[in-house]
Amino acid sequence: MLGIESSCDETGVALVRFDGAALPVLRAHALHTQVQMHAAYGGVVPELASRDHIRRVLPLTTTVLAQAGASLSELDVVAYTRGPGLAGALLVGAGVACALAAALDKPVLGVHHLEGHLLSPFLSTDAPQFPFVALLVSGGHTQLMRVDAVGQYTLLGETIDDAAGEAFDKSAKLMGLGYPGGPALSRLATGGRADAFALPRPLLHSGNLDFSFAGLKTAVLTQHRRLGASPSAEQLAGLAASTQAAIVEVLVKKSLAALKATGLKRLVVSGGVGANAELRKRLNDATMRRGWQVHYPELDLCTDNGAMIAMAAAMRLQAGAAQASRHYAFDVRPRWPLDQIS
Ligand code: KG4
Ligand code: ZN
Repeated sequence: MLGIESSCDETGVALVRFDGAALPVLRAHALHTQVQMHAAYGGVVPELASRDHIRRVLPLTTTVLAQAGASLSELDVVAYTRGPGLAGALLVGAGVACALAAALDKPVLGVHHLEGHLLSPFLSTDAPQFPFVALLVSGGHTQLMRVDAVGQYTLLGETIDDAAGEAFDKSAKLMGLGYPGGPALSRLATGGRADAFALPRPLLHSGNLDFSFAGLKTAVLTQHRRLGASPSAEQLAGLAASTQAAIVEVLVKKSLAALKATGLKRLVVSGGVGANAELRKRLNDATMRRGWQVHYPELDLCTDNGAMIAMAAAMRLQAGAAQASRHYAFDVRPRWPLDQIS
């Protein structure tokens, strides 16, 4: 199974081997991130993203096949990210996947990007078992889902405005930390006091499993303005640590509430924000105290990559949740709720 990811600012290609009932195995994956290209603009420029995917996708495919010592003729299925994401960027991966499959006379399968994130922990050595609660925290989504099996996803709660990743990115940007700011903000936070600034914990006591992060960003902006034109390093580190603490506290409390509400004892975290060390530490502590389990993808597979797309496609085929087809007239779905995938 070849998997191609091109929904946003990372071109990812991967090869997984799968047969029978055992978990699919990652044979090779390669990634090109466009972060540096977009950094000059403070965010992703869709047209530049599409053009760069075009430049990268075939060389990455060649690299992956060479790494795995495999040839094109050995491919059984070609998978690609069908959505959600940037339309032009998605079209590159979809077009290449379908053209490649058509040329090889092999079937194709379009995959939901968030299902890729959701199933990415199955690529780790500590793979979870169904059922579980999934906390999906990426740059564009923040959702809690009940996951009973491949393809059986029930939305428990989601953000009503900004995603957790956006809260990291927007706060980092207004603090002058560049784009994408999540990793930079979290690095700065390690030297600061989490109680340095009083920031809101939006919807913490809302009684449901929804999130809201837009107000937090405004509060960070207000605090940052109060610091004046030349804040000290200590003040900036404190603001970063306080921002991170607010986001993490809400994510942890709502995840625990979701586990309680469902009666499940297993949490699976995925998406770029799942790489955050403070979030992992807090979740590890909280779940361990209760005798519950928490699973994560490998650190380098938290953010977008081709491996999770190939993995999700292989697991869908194995579970009989999808069928690959020789229908090469592709379309993409820039907006596509995860509970509408079947
Ligand atoms: O899943 P992802 O790669 O892309 C989407 O599908 O959106 O997630 C990217 C997001 C960005 O908002 C980025 O700032 C955030 O994940 N992120 C982090 C960390 N690493 C990535 N946020 C906080 N701490 C990190 N270590
Ligand atoms: Zn993603």
